[in-house]
Amino acid sequence: MYRIVLFSVCVALLCLFSVSGIQALEMPQEITLKDAKGKTQNPVYTPVVMPHQHHVTSGVMCGTCHHKWEDQSQPPERCIASGCHDQIGAEGEDMNKENAAYNAHHNPQSKHSCLGCHKKKKSSEKKAGPIACNKCHDQ
Ligand code: HEC
Ligand code: HEC
Ligand code: HEC
Repeated sequence: MYRIVLFSVCVALLCLFSVSGIQALEMPQEITLKDAKGKTQNPVYTPVVMPHQHHVTSGVMCGTCHHKWEDQSQPPERCIASGCHDQIGAEGEDMNKENAAYNAHHNPQSKHSCLGCHKKKKSSEKKAGPIACNKCHDQ
């Protein structure tokens, strides 16, 4: 009995710590992604507004988007952080390489990318976000 109580207390404390760890971060309600501005042949495609909280309440897990996030006491790295999708404004074939910012946001094969996830959801007839260019990009 004593062991069970002790175990429960530990679990409760662990939960408290991990939850407070996340809450200590500022969870953005809405994010404007705008770093490609002026660095691409199509600067008209930026900025893009992302309803961050809307995704969380729609049930998308943090780790689906923040797929390299390990230490959750620290904010997740940006998509375009050095060593990640840091080739901004890449053109032609290079746009589709994993390290391109374009790839991070549009890779049709990846559930981590904006467009990839929206496409997958739509093809399985679930509620999905926009797919048309001009629904994300104000043209
Ligand atoms: C679900 C939303 C979404 C859709 C749909 C979308 N994009 Fe994007 N796109 C983004 C985001 C987010 C960025 C990053 C914006 C920034 O950081 O400035 C981006 C950036 C870009 C860039 C700049 C690339 C770079 O290297 O940063 C181009 C070019 C672009 N999009 C073209 C398109 C085209 C063409 C389509 C239609 C086939 C499209 N996008 C559809 C979200 C979207
Ligand atoms: C649908 C995708 C998606 C989901 C789900 C998601 N995020 Fe994010 N989040 C993003 C994007 C995109 C950014 C901006 C990244 C960038 O600037 O490159 C961001 C930014 C953040 C930031 C700000 C980072 C900073 O440097 O200011 C925090 C904190 C964060 N997210 C926490 C969370 C937590 C916690 C969850 C789960 C409860 C979550 N996110 C779920 C896509 C998502
Ligand atoms: C893993 C899946 C996933 C990823 C990744 C994702 N989304 Fe979405 N997105 C959704 C779903 C699901 C919805 C529909 C939610 C609803 O309305 O119920 C949605 C809805 C949206 C909407 C419409 C919101 C509304 O008010 O109708 C926008 C705009 C959007 N996403 C932009 C983005 C951008 C920009 C990114 C990348 C930075 C992104 N999404 C990444 C799953 C995703």
